Amino acid sequence: MFFDDRRKHGLRHNPFKALVAPRPIAWVSSVDVDGVPNLAPFSYFNACADRPPTIVFAPNNPRPNGEGKDTLRNIEQTNEFVVNLAGYGLRRAMNETSAHVDPSVDEFALAGLTPAPSVHVKAPRIEEAPVSLECRFLTRLRLPSDHPKVENNLVIGQVVGTHIDDRIIRDGMVDMAAYRPIARLGYMDYTSVETVFEMLRPD
Ligand SMILES: Cc1cc2nc3c(=O)[nH]c(=O)nc-3n(C[C@H](O)[C@H](O)[C@H](O)COP(=O)(O)O)c2cc1C
Repeated sequence: MFFDDRRKHGLRHNPFKALVAPRPIAWVSSVDVDGVPNLAPFSYFNACADRPPTIVFAPNNPRPNGEGKDTLRNIEQTNEFVVNLAGYGLRRAMNETSAHVDPSVDEFALAGLTPAPSVHVKAPRIEEAPVSLECRFLTRLRLPSDHPKVENNLVIGQVVGTHIDDRIIRDGMVDMAAYRPIARLGYMDYTSVETVFEMLRPD
């Protein structure tokens, strides 16, 4: 099959997110100007450079009340944030923090998570997360939108500090079986890394 108009794929749901899958999940913590913490997951996310380590994620559509996402507002106001990564055991807490709640609500408390101090940024990291990347805000790009109520953005951040739970390190390497990072598929589906294969490059 082929389609170039998303209204004409003839399937039960738009398959786009099921096709570009799995996508890792940036579980982004930030603080507002008064220091109120905020936490939300974003699966339009990836690493895009490693010297220096750089990440990109996309806080897109406004919330149902028409206001922009708290995460984007906080990052633009404070110039910093933390990308936490969740293992399988944190899947439900991650999902809970996607609720559209008032900006005054602390999603750490909502999901029963512990804010831990970061080293280089004011935003707390998630104590329970196996990995946290402290980030400085580099830039926001506004992407095209085909709907007046939809906005699309890319936020790019430089990683200035990396926390790794020692329990997922074995023989000097990250042990993926212990880490089990979760990732987003299409629809309401998720996966976690359970199998790994190695392949050497030809040169
Ligand atoms: C697994 C998962 C992935 C998500 N990915 C995105 C995303 O990539 N971009 C986005 O704008 N919203 C995404 N959302 C929705 C946001 O998490 C949700 O709108 C959240 O309330 C935003 O919080 P904030 O207003 O505190 O920033 C995702 C939700 C879940 C559960």
